[in-house]
Amino acid sequence: MPEEPLVLGIETSCDETGVGIVRGHTLLADALASSVDEHARFGGVVPEVASRAHLEAMVPTIRRALSDAGVTLHDVDAIAVTAGPGLAGALLVGVAGAKGLALAAEKPIYGVNHLAAHVAVDTLEHGPITEPAIALLVSGGHSSLLRVDDLTKGVEPMGATIDDAAGEAFDKVARLLGMPFPGGPVIDRAAREGVATIGFPRGLTATRDFAEHRFNFSFSGLKTAVARWVESREAAGEPLPINDVAASFQEAVCDVLTMKALDACRYTGINTLIIGGGVAANSRLRAMAEERAAKHGITVRVPRPKLCTDNGAMVAALGSHLVAAGAPPSRMDFPADSALGVGTIAV
Ligand code: KG4
Ligand code: ZN
Repeated sequence: MPEEPLVLGIETSCDETGVGIVRGHTLLADALASSVDEHARFGGVVPEVASRAHLEAMVPTIRRALSDAGVTLHDVDAIAVTAGPGLAGALLVGVAGAKGLALAAEKPIYGVNHLAAHVAVDTLEHGPITEPAIALLVSGGHSSLLRVDDLTKGVEPMGATIDDAAGEAFDKVARLLGMPFPGGPVIDRAAREGVATIGFPRGLTATRDFAEHRFNFSFSGLKTAVARWVESREAAGEPLPINDVAASFQEAVCDVLTMKALDACRYTGINTLIIGGGVAANSRLRAMAEERAAKHGITVRVPRPKLCTDNGAMVAALGSHLVAAGAPPSRMDFPADSALGVGTIAV
């Protein structure tokens, strides 16, 4: 294998058909087709709609990525694809497509973990990962704190959400404020026009939670608190300060995420924090993490917003990392695994 492998990555775990091409740690193409508009009126991703959209977008998106990178399939050293976790039908389209490509072009294939790919993508922005590191992974389906000693071998879960994921909380709160789906970017924008004046609860941060839930998250109580606050305002016939509610909700989420992530760094003595997943695109989370980490001598690595939300480049980045480490490719009969655990980096 060459030192700087050329890897094509395919991502179809949710509503984005992503095809990325990287050489080593260099991003050459990041083609994306999203079905998000088709789900908007349902207030969430509809699996069958997503699968069909992947099917239609797959070949054109692969073509676009190859053309953007100025390479042919023949030049590619390996193909990586998200094997899980995610929506079963959506994953299947990507896995079947990637296998077809690998067979036709006689290339090795790597079925990789979507969550680990959210961590690996930072290498495209900041170069090789400093290990060990703590990773805060916050997306629409997951919120976890992970210890990363060797990303090619596995990651160790330290904590996770016990109910809603952080992105899910953004989406649900946006919905109850009458904002469109996905809610994260809309709340982020609204919050910039508001002031965080309302003291919403910080889940699992009380002293009594410390023993069992030090590194776990809970956002469903926060979501309910926002709903009650909005209802009481409406019942009183008072106008709803939407921007202030958005800012206060966002402040509560970011406060808990950064507090627990930095606590995990202090607990393990690790001074690198990687933040990944769609919620890592949040402007307040990025600013708060930087500010608080600096006070503790901790380096925060968070990729640019476009690389935080689902994309193919992150899958290619993890594939490239595995190829460079000499990891064996996946067997051609590996399945799409909608419940793939975070401990399994490649199937
Ligand atoms: O990683 P991702 O693209 O897909 C999953 O793997 O789930 O994450 C999507 C989630 C959605 O819940 C979306 O609302 C949230 O990331 N999100 C944000 C922002 N941009 C996307 N949340 C807060 N602030 C943002 N700027
Ligand atoms: Zn994701």
